[in-house]
Amino acid sequence: MNNILITGGLGYIGSHFASFLKNEFKKIIIVDNLSNSNISVFNKLSFLKSKNKYPILEFKKCDIHDKFTIEKIIKFNDIDSIAHFAGLKSVAESLRHPSKYSYVNLLGTKNILMLAKEYKIRNFIFSSSATVYGNPIYLPLNENHPIRSINPYGKTKVDIENLLINDPYFQNDCSVKILRYFNPIGAHPSGLIGEMSKGMPNNLMPIILKVAKKEQDRVHIFGGDYNTHDGTGIRDYIHIMDLVNGHIKALNYKKKGVSIFNLGTGQGYSVLDLINTFTKVNKVKVPYEIVERRLGDAASVFADPSKAENILGFKVEHNLNEMCFDAWRFAQHI
Ligand code: NAD
Ligand code: WQD
Repeated sequence: MNNILITGGLGYIGSHFASFLKNEFKKIIIVDNLSNSNISVFNKLSFLKSKNKYPILEFKKCDIHDKFTIEKIIKFNDIDSIAHFAGLKSVAESLRHPSKYSYVNLLGTKNILMLAKEYKIRNFIFSSSATVYGNPIYLPLNENHPIRSINPYGKTKVDIENLLINDPYFQNDCSVKILRYFNPIGAHPSGLIGEMSKGMPNNLMPIILKVAKKEQDRVHIFGGDYNTHDGTGIRDYIHIMDLVNGHIKALNYKKKGVSIFNLGTGQGYSVLDLINTFTKVNKVKVPYEIVERRLGDAASVFADPSKAENILGFKVEHNLNEMCFDAWRFAQHI
């Protein structure tokens, strides 16, 4: 049994992934600079893992640009797998600060890739995004859909995918899984960990939660005149526990070379579907107002997840009700 390094492991997706790992590894080492997370997440993760001897969980506050420290961690801990979540994820912020995004996401990742090659990492998971598809040419989106960057955040994901695809080490000697996430929402069933981003949220579910908590008076729905069943935008929301289960399946898929998988449900729901389901399941009011479309938004985006289903055995188990229920259970306690 070897050990895994998780970058950005105290963030939303990385922490749920860490919580899901059982006996695949002896030790999990999380590195995170806490720019969008909190040390309390590590304490909660340690609690969730405390019943079992393995895996041992360790945390080091560290930036992915700090090659020296990350090299030491890899070298002295028999790291043979890396799950790379660390990065910035706001499309809106990337439009205001494109160079910050290329510095953190692209240059930071280059460091991790150099070390992965140098220390002959065998299993590498990279968090990509459905944003790489841009505005869909056809639906559902399969992995063969052309990719293009329509914002600086998306550009970093496209560039990193290309770095992996074009590198002989990752092509031949490592098992690389590029996972293109659709819209993860929900929280851990314990209610202990969930999405805890710093600053003003841009994504729909964190905004619904703010409104439900009466920290914001209403949700502004961006556009009510799309060509969809109710005029509001459609997305493929996936429960965070299903998403991280997809990562476990990807870890266990050891084929050498670079493989790309969509992680979505294949089912699209509109903004109003999400708000109405949230209201019904949690019996809490979510006032909303339909406003102008948001620049750059597509009417509908949803996955064809059949490649992950057929090759990895990926299967989602949670429906929209559970996503809304779990998101609210967590949000009420933070
Ligand atoms: P997150 O912000 O919750 O987690 C990212 C973590 O990385 C945070 O804990 C942050 O502190 C850390 N981090 C940021 N910069 C760092 C640096 N320079 N060095 C070390 N740590 C750093 O985001 P998330 O939702 O968990 O997303 C994880 C990954 O998945 C990101 O790469 C994101 O682009 C990608 N992704 C997320 C979504 C989504 O909707 N959440 C969708 C598609 C792809
Ligand atoms: C969902 C729907 C909005 C906010 C983004 C990134 C993508 C990925 C996930 C990281 C859309 C509508 C939203 C609001 C609204 N992240 N909306 N009012 O845009 O699908 O994807 O997050 O990789 O890369 O682009 O997610 O949650 O912002 O929007 O009406 O206040 O909700 O128009 O239809 P999106 P989102």
